[in-house]
Amino acid sequence: MQIQWYPGHMHKAGKEIKKSLPRIDLVIEILDARIPFSSENPMLRKLQGSKPCIKILNKSDLADPKVTLQWQNWLDKEQGVKMLSVDKNHPEKIKQISTLCQKLLPERKNSAKGIRAMIVGIPNVGKSTLINTLAGRTIAKTGNEPAITKAQQRIEIDKNLVLFDTPGMLWPKVENKNSGYRLAVTGAIRDTAIEHSDIAFFAAEYLLERYPENIQDRYTLESPPENELELLEEIGKKRGCLRAGGEIDLDKTSKIFLNDIRQGELGEISYETPTMINNEMTKLTLILKQKAAMEKSRKQKFKYQR
Ligand code: G4P
Repeated sequence: MQIQWYPGHMHKAGKEIKKSLPRIDLVIEILDARIPFSSENPMLRKLQGSKPCIKILNKSDLADPKVTLQWQNWLDKEQGVKMLSVDKNHPEKIKQISTLCQKLLPERKNSAKGIRAMIVGIPNVGKSTLINTLAGRTIAKTGNEPAITKAQQRIEIDKNLVLFDTPGMLWPKVENKNSGYRLAVTGAIRDTAIEHSDIAFFAAEYLLERYPENIQDRYTLESPPENELELLEEIGKKRGCLRAGGEIDLDKTSKIFLNDIRQGELGEISYETPTMINNEMTKLTLILKQKAAMEKSRKQKFKYQR
């Protein structure tokens, strides 16, 4: 799937959500358990207004369970958000979503209409798979193709819950550079302006620091490589990614490495933790403040010069 984040897509998805909100009781946002922060939509909180929201950490089979627990605590304590971690191999857990909705809106229990929930998530997060499991049948894909305008789908889950799947793509947090990389590493965004080798280097640096045993196991290495380049060269050698003259084909190796990561071949791995994100956001806020101050002084200088 190819995704490009045009302002037009974002505007359309935002408009669809706003239009549907008056008719719904709560929002279910599906996140990628490996990157719960980066896979969140940055505008949803503002768009949803006072409607309650449940966060679903999906694909938890691919994430590090210790880190998922940290995210659970963070979402619960710091954000006061109800969440559930699920994966496609455990349908019984996915079915708990209906119970969680009822817990959140007890006053709607036994109401004739049932709870009306809007379900949202960035492309590839597993929204269709999850809806099919919840519904117990295959629901036609709403389609991620932005050029096709499709009607909102109404999916009856049980007598207590009706889902509304809004067409239009929800965009992730790409304003934070590292979030962009993590979305690319996990495969949420496959068509990016970033080179494969650039994404692979980002992943290799992170994995060597946090999950060296997973790397060693997957690529049967006697000791963890010294650095990212050494790791990619080792993988390249083992997988026969050589150019004429014996030089390692880094692009080909990077594709193999990224494919392994996206398929979960390196084991249960999370690509961000609440502590990492808090640190990154503090730095980002500082940079934005500095940029704003510089822009203000530039404008003032320009005013005096005129
Ligand atoms: P979307 O509607 O949000 O775009 O996502 P979709 O359900 O189409 O799922 C995107 C990919 O993620 C699919 O893989 C799907 O199998 C996989 N997926 C969904 N839920 C889970 C999960 O809980 N765990 C894991 N490991 N994978 C999940 P694909 O390779 O694109 O397609 P396919 O191989 O299933 O045909």
